[in-house]
Amino acid sequence: MLRFAVPKGRLLEPLVELADRHGLALGEALAGAGRQLVVETAGLRLLLLKDADVPVYVEQGAADCGVAGLDQILDRDADVLRLLRLPFGACRLCLIAREGEVVREEGRPLVLASKYQRLAGMLAQRRGLNATLVPLAGSVELAARLGLADAVVDLVETGRTLRENGLQPVEEWLAVAPYLIAQRAAFLWKCEEMRALRRALGGQE
Ligand code: PRP
Repeated sequence: MLRFAVPKGRLLEPLVELADRHGLALGEALAGAGRQLVVETAGLRLLLLKDADVPVYVEQGAADCGVAGLDQILDRDADVLRLLRLPFGACRLCLIAREGEVVREEGRPLVLASKYQRLAGMLAQRRGLNATLVPLAGSVELAARLGLADAVVDLVETGRTLRENGLQPVEEWLAVAPYLIAQRAAFLWKCEEMRALRRALGGQE
């Protein structure tokens, strides 16, 4: 049975819709799950995980495959195969500041708040920025709005969160999309099942 790591957060709803459209009834199985974290359906063992944990389970082989955003894959530095780019959830990882503000180092390192400790630090360094990271778990935009940080590094999808909080994207740092990912060894010995799952998520042969 293929162990499929499913993200419980923002990617879940469009993933379920996509699978349902291609005849894989994930929605039905998950609706009856209650508080269970493992659900079996159609030859799949679904592991319901926090979005950020999916690449870790897959890389370590606790799951054979899963769905994760490029942001989470890179932030965890996960060595996984990307089998298919999924046709939803495209967004941008941006440097974000209060409206009308310029982000620059003022004789001290720039204070950046982010959920992405590794990725935000790496991208800041690539841009030659001297930055200190403030690790946060969510609602990161508040850190810029309230002055906890000079700027924030976070995802922008529709831009609504920024607009409604008086913030603006200053620079786009990374184009982000979700992927079907696989553990390298599992892809070799469960190749047929993985290909079937790839097809069930709209992948072409
Ligand atoms: C993400 C992201 C932004 C928001 C952007 O948050 O971190 O806050 O969505 O989307 P928008 O541009 O369409 O408004 P998420 O919903 O994952 O919650 P979180 O802030 O708790 O991480």
